[in-house]
Amino acid sequence: MHILVTGGAGFIGSHVVRHFLKAHPDCTITNLDSLTYAGNLANLSDVEQNPRYRFIKGDITDAPFLVKLFEESRFDGVIHLAAESHVDRSIANPTEFVITNVLGTVNLLNAARAAWKSSFEGKRFYHISTDEVYGSLGKDGLFTEETPYDPHSPYSASKASSDHFVRAYHDTFGLPVVISNCSNNYGSYQFPEKLIPLFINNICRKRPLPVYGKGENIRDWLWVVDHAQAIDVIFHRGKTGETYNIGGHNEWTNIDLILLLCRIMNEKLGRQPGESEALITYVTDRAGHDLRYAIDSSKLQRELGWVPSISFEKGLELTVDWYLGNHEWLNNVTSGSYQHYYDRMYGGRQE
Ligand code: NAD
Ligand code: TYD
Repeated sequence: MHILVTGGAGFIGSHVVRHFLKAHPDCTITNLDSLTYAGNLANLSDVEQNPRYRFIKGDITDAPFLVKLFEESRFDGVIHLAAESHVDRSIANPTEFVITNVLGTVNLLNAARAAWKSSFEGKRFYHISTDEVYGSLGKDGLFTEETPYDPHSPYSASKASSDHFVRAYHDTFGLPVVISNCSNNYGSYQFPEKLIPLFINNICRKRPLPVYGKGENIRDWLWVVDHAQAIDVIFHRGKTGETYNIGGHNEWTNIDLILLLCRIMNEKLGRQPGESEALITYVTDRAGHDLRYAIDSSKLQRELGWVPSISFEKGLELTVDWYLGNHEWLNNVTSGSYQHYYDRMYGGRQE
């Protein structure tokens, strides 16, 4: 089977590529990525020599390029992860999110439809989405696959729009699609602009830990390796036209998570209790900040038998160990353009 993975040089995509090459000796992977600030081929240095893997630098916003790629390559399936993925950046520049996440997805749908027009038999277009499309929960309840869409950030609005297009191509043209909506991921190779790697990096460098608002927002965290496993199960056994929610039943307020992270980091770095905690700095809240995300993944568990493999405490410790053991990776991605971004994002936030 020849699978096109888009966004394979990013955080989740690199885990998906690695997982599929290892778990499926019969599959060939083409990784299509435009290598934005978030895409990093170093994330896949361990598989670059694998004869079943090839990388192509290309942009999903380039429709003619995609049509040609599909014509030449005869893909059996697509796992579509390429996206602009950071909420704060979407507040700073919404249009970029529409272009990549909405237009890019429609370009891919068109290319797949054209290439597979003689028969959709044995083909699959798998769109990776987020729980953020469902909006924000109050104190109770969980997002199910039936929860109405209610996105609040430009990022989640662009992902919601792309999800609608994917469903529309199934309903209108019969394209064999499947969609999953996952909660917040954490783990190795995540770009240090998202909460966990940003805070690990700042604790190492004894920089302030910028907590938005009161730190009371709740996220449902899943280890990225478990997400890759869920993507495998859904790609191979999910029902065409269906949506699956993926989550770890693992809700944390931001401040409780940060305190746990500080405790782990104090131990690992040989610091006194309270030393990393002293870096916590409350800053202006994110505009439109969703209060709570929490996923009901019982459909995926019941129908396809997927369950997360490790506890959050264990996964977080493994993640900290990985970042501490990969200073070079961290230094490389935090230099240059990322540094300008950091100054722009946090330079103006009031303490
Ligand atoms: P990421 O930002 O780490 O990676 C995105 C990748 O897409 C990068 O390699 C980037 O170079 C590539 N890309 C961006 N624009 C492109 C374009 N125009 N053409 C080709 N490639 C392009 O993101 P991630 O965290 O790995 O997320 C991957 C997918 O999973 C996204 O669709 C995201 O919405 C979804 N998702 C993420 C999370 C999470 O917690 N990170 C949770 C649920 C769903
Ligand atoms: P993030 O990792 O950006 O993921 P998302 O916004 O997609 O959930 O943020 C996770 C939570 O952490 C979110 O409630 C915002 C908060 N946060 C901070 O308090 N400070 C920060 O510097 C960042 C990046 C996030």
